Amino acid sequence: MSSVFGVFWRVYAAFISPPRPDNVEDNDTLPPLKIGILGAAAIAPPALVLPAKSHPEVELYAVAARDISRAEKFAKKHGFKKWYGGKDGYQDLLDDQEIDIVYNPLPNGLHYEWTMKALAAGKHVLLEKPSGNTAEETRRMFSLADQKGLVLLEAFHYKFHPAIQRVRAIIDSGELGAIKEVNATLALPKGMLGNDDDIRMNYDLGGGAMMDCGCYTLSCVRYLISNNPSAVISATAMRYSKDPRIDTGTTANLTFASLKPGEEPVRSIIKCDFAIPPRWGLIPRWPDLSVRAVCERGSIEIFNYVMPVIYHSITVRPDGKVPRTEKAYTFEGGKGEEWWTTYRYQLEAFVDKVKGRTPQTWVNPEDSIANMEWIEKIYEESGLGSRPQSTYVLPTA
Ligand SMILES: *[C@@H]1O[C@H](CO)[C@@H](O)[C@H](O)[C@H]1NC(C)=O
Ligand SMILES: *[C@@H]1O[C@H](CO)[C@@H](O)[C@H](O)[C@H]1NC(C)=O
Ligand SMILES: *[C@@H]1O[C@H](CO)[C@@H](O)[C@H](O)[C@H]1NC(C)=O
Repeated sequence: MSSVFGVFWRVYAAFISPPRPDNVEDNDTLPPLKIGILGAAAIAPPALVLPAKSHPEVELYAVAARDISRAEKFAKKHGFKKWYGGKDGYQDLLDDQEIDIVYNPLPNGLHYEWTMKALAAGKHVLLEKPSGNTAEETRRMFSLADQKGLVLLEAFHYKFHPAIQRVRAIIDSGELGAIKEVNATLALPKGMLGNDDDIRMNYDLGGGAMMDCGCYTLSCVRYLISNNPSAVISATAMRYSKDPRIDTGTTANLTFASLKPGEEPVRSIIKCDFAIPPRWGLIPRWPDLSVRAVCERGSIEIFNYVMPVIYHSITVRPDGKVPRTEKAYTFEGGKGEEWWTTYRYQLEAFVDKVKGRTPQTWVNPEDSIANMEWIEKIYEESGLGSRPQSTYVLPTA
């Protein structure tokens, strides 16, 4: 049994105390890539700080926050050497010549401005998803990265983990025949996200459930179908009582052209929700993190494609055969450990790319642009409209 001990060990190593690699200190032959973080965001510790601790080629170097005491506290707690704060704190961090990589977990509405500034300062950027407020912002950021020869990655971390890759490999293997239908859900119990002061509820900052948890569901069905939608058939949003431009949840009915000419289109329902109400008004529910696909000759589903390191299961039901359950915590013959999180796999790929090696997986610019385009189309269909495009203009040098 990979059991309860397996879960505890993985969670301990992944989120509490990652094992340190042997050659992490004092490696003069190859100085580590120095990382700077824009904003002392709550996502930074799991998404980057912990993964960096077990990566031998990076160093947690600097953090910037509007409030310098917050930056200092964050830096000391997580072992960063430097901190920047105040009105010019973010720019001061970008001007630090020591920094190689900038992690941008700022609110969505600030992704564009600060990613453009970071690229202009010559930094590689790991950018939180969704990449911007609009596809146009995403296009411009990738175009600047390309011009400058810098690495820019939209942090779709779940794609770097073996679990979702295994699901796609089973679909692509043809074992179950062509994919006909795939649904993806990311719904969280009321109270976890989406409180009134949450940036996710702020329209100007690029808030809304479809931007936040919805961007995963869209990305995931596009990934498993290996195609972009051909249309949004319908999309319904639950509107936030205090600002009707913000969705607290969205359900979209999408259609995709089949990859096999002449076949029926592939159907897909994606759902995201910040606030599933408690059962009978009382019992909190588990997050719903499921993806289920029906193919010509069977079905496949994965539970927990978002945080698979904690626990996940892949259930394959070939028609007329015994169903089976699979797990995938590591790649056969590839880099990784059972306790590596999606974020740790992602950091491995990011560093590989910066170092000119071939990463195991990559999210290319076209993929990031398409995801943003279809988020906008879904918002258009639900009647809420796109999030506002940044008015920032990068000064020409
Ligand atoms: C320095 O790091 C490189 C890359 O991780 C490793 O191959 C090398 O053995 C390390 N050197 C020392 C002295 O630890
Ligand atoms: C999605 O749209 C298709 C095509 O109009 C329709 O047949 C199907 O019932 C819709 N699915 C749901 C769950 O509304
Ligand atoms: C997808 O969701 C629709 C609407 O809830 C449902 O009718 C359909 O059976 C689901 N398909 C799969 C593969 O789960």
